[in-house]
Amino acid sequence: MSGHGEAQPMISGRSAPLSGVAEVPGDKSISHRALIFGAMAVGETRITGLLEGQDVLDTAKAMQAFGATVTRHGLGAWSVQGVGVGGFREPADVIDCGNSGTGVRLIMGTMATTPITATFTGDASLRKRPMGRVTDPLALFGTRAYGRQGGRLPMTVVGAADPMPVRYALPVASAQVKSAVLLAGLNAPGQTVVIEKEPTRDHSERMLIGFGAELTVEKGAEGHVITLTGRPELRPQTVAVPRDPSSAAFPVCAALIVEGSDIRVPGVSQNLTRNGLYLTLVEMGARIDFENPREEGGESVADLRVRFSPGLKGIEVPPDRAPSMIDEYPILSVVAAFAEGRTVMRGVKELRVKESDRIDAMARGLEACGARIEEDEDTLIVHGMGPGGLPGGGTAQTHLDHRIAMSFLVAGMAAKAEIAVDDGSPIVTSFPIFEGLMNGLGAAIRRG
Ligand code: S3P
Repeated sequence: MSGHGEAQPMISGRSAPLSGVAEVPGDKSISHRALIFGAMAVGETRITGLLEGQDVLDTAKAMQAFGATVTRHGLGAWSVQGVGVGGFREPADVIDCGNSGTGVRLIMGTMATTPITATFTGDASLRKRPMGRVTDPLALFGTRAYGRQGGRLPMTVVGAADPMPVRYALPVASAQVKSAVLLAGLNAPGQTVVIEKEPTRDHSERMLIGFGAELTVEKGAEGHVITLTGRPELRPQTVAVPRDPSSAAFPVCAALIVEGSDIRVPGVSQNLTRNGLYLTLVEMGARIDFENPREEGGESVADLRVRFSPGLKGIEVPPDRAPSMIDEYPILSVVAAFAEGRTVMRGVKELRVKESDRIDAMARGLEACGARIEEDEDTLIVHGMGPGGLPGGGTAQTHLDHRIAMSFLVAGMAAKAEIAVDDGSPIVTSFPIFEGLMNGLGAAIRRG
């Protein structure tokens, strides 16, 4: 399905001091991968803590269409009866990945080296996003793809009957592209090599090793060289999905800007390929304590205590940090609006090809709320207005983008006047309990 139906306007007003515990749902990236790797294993993979957001539900449905058996046993508790590497059958209908770039790109990679044909589509947001970044490297395996102009969905992918292993240097820092190539390499003979200059989220590598694939990562002058030996028999696993640090970012940032707040956010990933926002917030002067560091579901996590931070200062975010916080720039630009001074975000042009053009969506929305913004193709600069200083009173267009919607609803919690979003319905893709969780902490978010 397309992820969501009718537009749902929402409004956020000044919040009471936030208090309590914010238990955010499972990690979206790991949830997609648990279903897909489970489908590639021989036997039953058990998953707990799966994110039941629409993006992940669409991937579960797709795995069924390719022949795996996916069963829900209770909240977050799922199992996947896998068909083995190369065992996908041809789906009988179009695969609709809804709003999810991760879903469609990883699944294209997974079927690319099996001799079957599948047609992919998605919602209006996903149909605008570039797929050539995935189909170009897949062509090296012998896969063919026929999409709309500019490599857009709907797109038919014809899997390679006699795939070749591939050596591919990523031209963009993208974990989705890296993962698509590795997933295709699973059913190619010999060694598939992916080289990434800047490290991106490494969940695929960690999980492939966990499922029994032979995979090595060498750090050299050219970056990370990831070598996967094709045609392994993947062994089913028990996967405990940790909480999503990208979802945790919303209550964390809200507590930093809402006067008097003091909350706890347990189990936030400290994986170095995901924690860029948290480093940045600390550099800005955020009062965050990282308690109980430990391992959970193969990831290092900590419990966060987050307090209102009136002393936030704008900073220059190091551009090489972008891959480790790529989904967090929208909410960081909200925090920046409540800091003193400018926050400069360079090297962020990838934001233009996410669920929406996030530089444009944040710039226009923050301007509508009274902030001063500068931008160019690869840069976003927010002029901070200090604690409680953002006037608000505007409506942000969310362009089918869950993170834009949640970012402006957080902004409304601390602005002088209410902030509206034209459509909060995409929030279900990644954080279906957002409204209840935030209001439970003290927010005043309502349907418009
Ligand atoms: C993801 C990778 C990132 C990120 C997305 C999830 C993943 O996309 O923005 O939300 O799970 O691999 P890119 O690969 O396009 O950077």
